[in-house]
Amino acid sequence: MLLWLHLAAGFLSYAGLGTAVTVSISATASHPIPTTLWGQMFEVSYHQPRASSGDGGLYAELLQNRAFQQVTPGTTAALNAWQAVNGANISIIKETTPVSAALPNALHVTIPTGKTGQVGFANTGFSGIKVTAGQTYTASFFYRFPTRSSFRGSAVIGLQTASGQVLGSTTAALSGAQTTWKQITVKFQPNTTPSTTTNIFTVTLDGAAASGQSLNFAMLSLFPPTFKNRANGMRVDIATALAEMGPSFFRLPGGNNLEGQTVGPLVDRPGRVGDWSYVNTDGLGLLDYLNWCEDLNMQPIMAIWAGFALGGTSVAEAQLGPYIQQAADQINFVIGDPAKSAPAALRASLGRTQPFALTYVEVGNEDFFASSTYTYRWHDFVTALQAQFPSLHFIATTNTFNPILSPNPTEYDVHVYQTPTWFAQNSFFYDGFQRNGTKYFEGEYAAISTNANDIFGSPADGRLTFPTMQSAAGEAAFMTGLERNSDIVFAASYAPLLGHVTNNQWTPNLLAFDAGSVYRSTSYYVQKLFSLNRGDEFLPSTLPTQTGTLFWSVVRKKSTNQIIIKVSNTATTSAPLTFVLPFTNVGGSGTLQILTGTATASNTPTSPNLIVPVNSTIATGKTFNFTAPAVSVSVLTFTAQ
Ligand SMILES: *[C@@H]1O[C@H](CO)[C@@H](O)[C@H](O)[C@H]1NC(C)=O
Ligand SMILES: *[C@@H]1O[C@H](CO)[C@@H](O)[C@H](O)[C@H]1NC(C)=O
Ligand SMILES: *[C@@H]1O[C@H](CO)[C@@H](O)[C@H](O)[C@H]1NC(C)=O
Ligand SMILES: *[C@@H]1O[C@H](CO)[C@@H](O)[C@H](O)[C@H]1NC(C)=O
Repeated sequence: MLLWLHLAAGFLSYAGLGTAVTVSISATASHPIPTTLWGQMFEVSYHQPRASSGDGGLYAELLQNRAFQQVTPGTTAALNAWQAVNGANISIIKETTPVSAALPNALHVTIPTGKTGQVGFANTGFSGIKVTAGQTYTASFFYRFPTRSSFRGSAVIGLQTASGQVLGSTTAALSGAQTTWKQITVKFQPNTTPSTTTNIFTVTLDGAAASGQSLNFAMLSLFPPTFKNRANGMRVDIATALAEMGPSFFRLPGGNNLEGQTVGPLVDRPGRVGDWSYVNTDGLGLLDYLNWCEDLNMQPIMAIWAGFALGGTSVAEAQLGPYIQQAADQINFVIGDPAKSAPAALRASLGRTQPFALTYVEVGNEDFFASSTYTYRWHDFVTALQAQFPSLHFIATTNTFNPILSPNPTEYDVHVYQTPTWFAQNSFFYDGFQRNGTKYFEGEYAAISTNANDIFGSPADGRLTFPTMQSAAGEAAFMTGLERNSDIVFAASYAPLLGHVTNNQWTPNLLAFDAGSVYRSTSYYVQKLFSLNRGDEFLPSTLPTQTGTLFWSVVRKKSTNQIIIKVSNTATTSAPLTFVLPFTNVGGSGTLQILTGTATASNTPTSPNLIVPVNSTIATGKTFNFTAPAVSVSVLTFTAQ
């Protein structure tokens, strides 16, 4: 136990009905705040069937089922998100000469005889496509004629409303002599912004000119402008919301999503059915994630697959070799020397010679589901990888100290989904942990239901659809405890990060989105308030009452001589506080940022800005009063030295 906890216990504390709680603040810091403290855990799968937080979410690709990956040719299901335009005959076939070994299927299109007008096929996107006039859309596809033909003509490639109004289009020449795959890439700018996102992407031919022709298409794609204009990049509105949080790390590539071919040309990625039974394109690859980390100045916390699949099977110890090699290859792709390692040379061939920054590697994900085999898996992976990469820290994913692992983990990833009340009453969770060198990553946490008996029930059983003010205040109370214990808690992230508004398997999510918009939740604003109002060091103060409803933490930002106090009041009544500061000069006024609202209220697509932080000026001084409103999270900033 640290000295400051004893010191803090010596401060006076008054709590009672109508009486202000006095919070005396120490002038002496107990510990520096780790720069990694607040970040993001990127959950790719689990929560979003078909429209995962990668595909159809953060990844800006607009076409769903773009490469017919992992589908059964000839079935209706294989045509998911595709439809015929004006009577074309379309089906997914197993190609006799596929575009790549990774993509065996193709879209087979026949233009029936006797048609006039434009005939072809369309994609409905991920529950819609947002179209904005004046923006440049980049479309591409591979095509070939399975049988040589004398056809010469052009395809019209564009965007339309569901009722067929053309929003923008361009053309590309097609030749019946093209019996091998040829890639076409075009750019076009819509001239109309439709009022809804129920739009479609179309590829059509003149029905009369192409009468009776059959063509195959593979690996189709449509991108709007991306965040920082990166090729194969991120959706601008979602990326902007994430960037605004000022996160310092990004856990990738997502919980149960550690397999798959995710580097190199898109056409060489087979995709795969994820652990949560929908197809991942693997279009958003490791290099894209690493660029994303650099774009947001985040460090990656990178997971490796550790020989356990969520289906329940573990790889036997004798068979682990290739998987340990795969993990080493993944790490070398990120930090290896191109002169010495083939995966690093692959990175260099993709344009990135310099290694990326990497400190933390997480071994598996939630392997408390397979603790009995983790003992040998952890041992064999970490022993081999630590020898090759001595500078890396390996994070264990079983419950802390259970089972006992060898080598002894220096870091653990701790996950908790609970009620708002649980979070408030566990803000002292880490206070009793030994300070003995072991550190903790609170890698997934969220208040998901107010019903303690039904934490993993469906929404009808009390699961929150969107974070509420009450759930956000509970998380904030817990986060004041994470800040107090940041001598041993080096990183923390809410989870999951992103969920489609309707097309999801899990709620609540930090950000909700649909084809057109992103919605910032109460929990999002709490994460942002903590992340953007960091200090360099923690100042002990009178401890809150562990079983109470009022919580705080105090940090100092040395560069600006600022004191930053975060307060969470989880009660439905306001709570007066008196702060007592030991400094000679304390500013007479400061900034108050406050998030408050009705306990059960949420930001939703119909009222996205119901609860947002509001700024004001407050009177401060060596002793000053502050009343925390009912169900609120406050950040008070003022100068003192
Ligand atoms: C449509 O194509 C399928 C597969 O090529 C074929 O079996 C079917 O007869 C075609 N239907 C029409 C109406 O042309
Ligand atoms: C720290 O304490 C825990 C709990 O007693 C123990 O399991 C762990 O091995 C210790 N860590 C180190 C580095 O000694
Ligand atoms: C509120 O204050 C914070 C801290 O000074 C500042 O970063 C933020 O931009 C302000 N927000 C608004 C809406 O003015
Ligand atoms: C703070 O509130 C108390 C009453 O709770 C009052 O006596 C005191 O004068 C107030 N202090 C300031 C600086 O306003």
